[in-house]
Amino acid sequence: FFEGHAAIWLFGYGSLIWKADFAYLERRPAYIHGWERRFWQGSHDHRGTPEAPGRVATLVRSEGSICHGMAYRITPEVLAPLDVREKNGYLREKVALTFVDEKTSVAEKSSRTEQSEGLIYLASEDNPAFLGDAPLDEIAQQIANAHGPSGPNRDYLVNLAVALRELGAKDAHIFALEQQLSRF
Ligand code: BEZ
Repeated sequence: FFEGHAAIWLFGYGSLIWKADFAYLERRPAYIHGWERRFWQGSHDHRGTPEAPGRVATLVRSEGSICHGMAYRITPEVLAPLDVREKNGYLREKVALTFVDEKTSVAEKSSRTEQSEGLIYLASEDNPAFLGDAPLDEIAQQIANAHGPSGPNRDYLVNLAVALRELGAKDAHIFALEQQLSRF
């Protein structure tokens, strides 16, 4: 993976958007094409327990979609502890990142987009903790009830929604879930 590169871009779409507990060289808002964020991954060790698992974000393929997040330029050594931390059978995939330069105007953005190769971690349906789709109100109820060593599952969703708004990102699934969560 990424042999010959001094540094790589890791794309965060979940908790990594607002919290990185590793050393990084640079941090830039970015998006990826062809993926959608979904609260389809179970969490029995961070945002829930084996008895009451929480739900956290993963990515699913979706042609024509865009997923906004935060990219971190890291040295390859940083990946080793990440691989240990994300031991729940997460897959690594290469993606094409498009950086969102906050300093350029909307007109400039469309004509001058800067891209780079990046890396994502994701849980697919063959991950043992993968939960998959459910009615939105059931997902929200599950999140409202789940608490784990990393804190309430609710905080994860609210932090993500706040961070996405700060990025100016659209994400119908997340904002609809946030709305549902406010009922519980
Ligand atoms: C994320 O926040 O993007 C993330 C963190 C751990 C595993 C997969 C994704």
